[in-house]
Amino acid sequence: MIQPVRYEGGVLHLLDQRRLPAEERWVACSSVEEVARAIEAMVVRGAPAIGIAAAYGVALAAVRAAAGAASAGSDGPRADEPGQDGRDRQGAASSGDPGTTAGTVAEAVDAAVRRLAATRPTAVNLHWALRRMADRSRELAARGAAPRAVAAALEAEARSIQEEDLAMCLRMAEHGAALLPAGARVLTHCNTGALATGGHGTALGVIRTAWRQGRLRHVWVDETRPLLQGARLTAWELEREGIPHTLIVDGAAAAVMGAGQVDAVLVGADRIAANGDTANKIGTYMLAVLARHHGIPFYVVAPWSTVDPTLPSGDAIPIEQRGADEVRALGGVRWAPAGTAVYNPAFDVTPAALITAIVTDRGVLRPPYREAIAERAAAPAAE
Ligand code: MRU
Repeated sequence: MIQPVRYEGGVLHLLDQRRLPAEERWVACSSVEEVARAIEAMVVRGAPAIGIAAAYGVALAAVRAAAGAASAGSDGPRADEPGQDGRDRQGAASSGDPGTTAGTVAEAVDAAVRRLAATRPTAVNLHWALRRMADRSRELAARGAAPRAVAAALEAEARSIQEEDLAMCLRMAEHGAALLPAGARVLTHCNTGALATGGHGTALGVIRTAWRQGRLRHVWVDETRPLLQGARLTAWELEREGIPHTLIVDGAAAAVMGAGQVDAVLVGADRIAANGDTANKIGTYMLAVLARHHGIPFYVVAPWSTVDPTLPSGDAIPIEQRGADEVRALGGVRWAPAGTAVYNPAFDVTPAALITAIVTDRGVLRPPYREAIAERAAAPAAE
């Protein structure tokens, strides 16, 4: 199974998703700053995977602080200048500094949480994972745990977040596959696969499971401008698995639906508000409108860590704005005039009214979502 995030020997290894499918290259991070830059540069992307990487970033901060190396000042190479995988880095394995205290570790954890929280604003999984790491750190501090014990416990917590995400994906996949008709032809957007999660995937996890169950016929893959997560990453995952698929430009979705070639649309999510409004990759809202027009079910697939019950509706979801050159150019080739004004929101918000069902690890939610979300938040179903 593809796993884009690997933590070994105090170093976080990230499969560089900017380079796929041309090259399978790993970026090694041994400091919080390296992890933060990797998230910003989208070396690692996809809501759950960002949360997992950030959790390991916090663990790295604790490991370095516990080793008395946090003040050594070496943040190593930048994420956009990837180091060679497995190279020796200063910090993680340094010997202890007798001056290091539990307070030093707690301060390093707090600083790491602040830095990582500022990387990408829309995916709430990031903040969910950081809160979990911060809570665990405070709990250990309250118990008077020694610095190295705190660091080891935070490494274990990050590993649990990763393993739990995979388990949630597998549960969602079962729930979601059961919604599809036999011989289903589905359309998906962006990349919601193993690359975006702890493994298996959310919407793409449903597709994987449905294929293994013999109920899936074909996948239409939106290329997903501007960064082509569909063309580069989803097509790569589907090809590795031998799942029949066809790549289309985003603008072809209406034509394919109009030709009666789509039985369901499956997408992931970066944040789901309390009323079910859902932020996901730019272009998702457009697909939901098209699906409604053509009478095609539109399913959102996301783990509970993507649900943000603190936001009453999608209006309050912060939408990341990215640089103009992502739209004016690709792969170093510019096709628009250098000064052309660009609007480049990375995500849009699909109103809950356009969503047929939200598939979570706690079961399948149906409208009205405010009630369904409140009910599952209070009493998680072990379905
Ligand atoms: O900008 P990205 O590539 O991080 O956006 C990813 C998406 O929008 C995914 O659909 C979402 O994070 C769900 S991934 C399981």
